[in-house]
Amino acid sequence: MTKRGSMWQPRWMSVLSILKAVALGGCAGANTVTPETPKAPNPDHLQVELSPISGDVDRPRRHFRIRNPVKLSPREAQGIYEIVKNALEVGYQRAGHPVAQAYLTWRRYNTAPYSSVTHGNHYLNNYANDTASAYRHFEDAGTMPVGSVIAKDSFSVTQSKAIVLGPLFIMEKMPSGFNYVSGDWKYTLIQPDGTVFGETQGANAERVEYCIACHLAAGQKDHLYFIPEDYRVTR
Ligand code: HEC
Repeated sequence: MTKRGSMWQPRWMSVLSILKAVALGGCAGANTVTPETPKAPNPDHLQVELSPISGDVDRPRRHFRIRNPVKLSPREAQGIYEIVKNALEVGYQRAGHPVAQAYLTWRRYNTAPYSSVTHGNHYLNNYANDTASAYRHFEDAGTMPVGSVIAKDSFSVTQSKAIVLGPLFIMEKMPSGFNYVSGDWKYTLIQPDGTVFGETQGANAERVEYCIACHLAAGQKDHLYFIPEDYRVTR
């Protein structure tokens, strides 16, 4: 673990109020802004952006990746997450999707945001609703009951110290027969601006087929991959 980022911390903390304003002002992530020091805010210093979309949007083969991501210690990642959480929530909620409204009230199963190459070099947090409480057993969770929902929010930080708001990844267990190949999971991706990018058996379903394909490799574990061991909440 690296030492607590002496360069990072004051600067991130100083942007707290601006990010809150971003969240409340309803422009979560729209190419915003901020300061150098608490005394003299410099709007050019920190940018909050939306996760970029590249390649063939209609048929992605993998997650959109962020270029030149910065590596954060768990403490730094958690500190930044506390700052951007509200901005993420406000953006996702524009989708009017029930999971976007609720997920932050659910239990989080990781101790700090962890980075994932498979999910686009973002820092991720996994939340699960009460129905999915067996998620706490990780590989021993068995087959999740209908109504289980697991939601992952995401952000990243670039080398130029821009915070990039990432998508919300959702898996929802549907009744048997919903989709054999996906193990009856419905995959949904909500962009940080609240656009629903795609949904299994719904609008733009082809855009989330790559989710099914990759998670299928974990078919023995009800298509679940769980959280890297070092980051698991074990209580
Ligand atoms: C290239 C493989 C790959 C693709 C594509 C992929 N995932 Fe995942 N997914 C993983 C892995 C590995 C994990 C566990 C570790 C992690 O979070 O990175 C995971 C974890 C998850 C979880 C937490 C539940 C669990 O499995 O423990 C959700 C929710 C999720 N992914 C949703 C999605 C959605 C929605 C998509 C498509 C938009 C998607 N994933 C595409 C590999 C993938």
